[in-house]
Amino acid sequence: MTDKRKVRKAVFPVAGLGTRFLPATKAVPKEMLTVVDKPVIQYVVDEALEAGIEHLIFVTGRSKAVIEDYFDIQVELDQTLRERNKKAEIELLEAILPKAGTTSFTRQQAPLGLGHAVWCARDLVGDEPFALLLPDMIMKGEKGCLKGMVELYEQSGGNVIAVEECAPNQAHKYGIVGVGDKIGEGFKITKMVEKPAPGTAPSNFFINGRYILQPEIFPILERQERGAGNEIQLTDGMVKLSGAQPFAAYHFRGDTYDCGAKDGFILANVAFALERGDIRPSVEEPLKALLQSLK
Ligand code: UTP
Repeated sequence: MTDKRKVRKAVFPVAGLGTRFLPATKAVPKEMLTVVDKPVIQYVVDEALEAGIEHLIFVTGRSKAVIEDYFDIQVELDQTLRERNKKAEIELLEAILPKAGTTSFTRQQAPLGLGHAVWCARDLVGDEPFALLLPDMIMKGEKGCLKGMVELYEQSGGNVIAVEECAPNQAHKYGIVGVGDKIGEGFKITKMVEKPAPGTAPSNFFINGRYILQPEIFPILERQERGAGNEIQLTDGMVKLSGAQPFAAYHFRGDTYDCGAKDGFILANVAFALERGDIRPSVEEPLKALLQSLK
């Protein structure tokens, strides 16, 4: 029977080294870099909450304690804001504070790969399906990516992966899926390959960093040997699981920004700033002028 139990928990692997963003990430986790006025991780948590997620599980690493602090009350700040009667700021902070008992943190002691980071969450997830959101990737669309995935999952059950289209000559950079029969806003996945050699990709649909997985992935990851980059790869584990369980793809139609890379991060800041009524009027014209001044 295809498992359709409710997706209540979400895992956020935040234990990577963020080497592409050095030197900033020497002291600041990349998930805490700000896009406009919110850390990257807040966008991803908001996406999870919009999709109905009830419990947030963070797989952290050394020097990531600030992420835990961010999702807690800052007592001194709270007190000072109250003394100064800063109502708007107090409300802003209250709105983003997770409810008591709805966050959990565990540590990946060494960055052995995404597959290993996910495996570290096994006891916190338990025996139920879960969402996995890579916090580097932030998305802008009419409907949150995970919300659309949950809707598809309610039809398909099993495992669901979000995909987007890339230029065919870029497929070798990504995890790519093979396209089967249409289902809801997506299709059944016929195969998965991590970074296919140029010209061999089964399609141009790439895995964009959002997953709904069944708990049977955990024993597979436990036995998973190191793969590409000498890391324990999630895709290798999913390929094994796909021998026993169905995988569907949700075709996300929106914009995705890889905030773990400098170009993606800069584009995200511009795109999200231009969406904001309080910021767009003062940045739009200077931005246009800047672009026109380029030779
Ligand atoms: P990335 O490869 O994008 O993250 O992993 P990274 O290793 O931090 O980045 P670079 O390449 O050195 O700049 C995708 C996601 O998986 C997490 C990362 O934090 C990121 O959110 N991850 C990766 C872990 O939690 N643990 C790992 O061992 C590897």
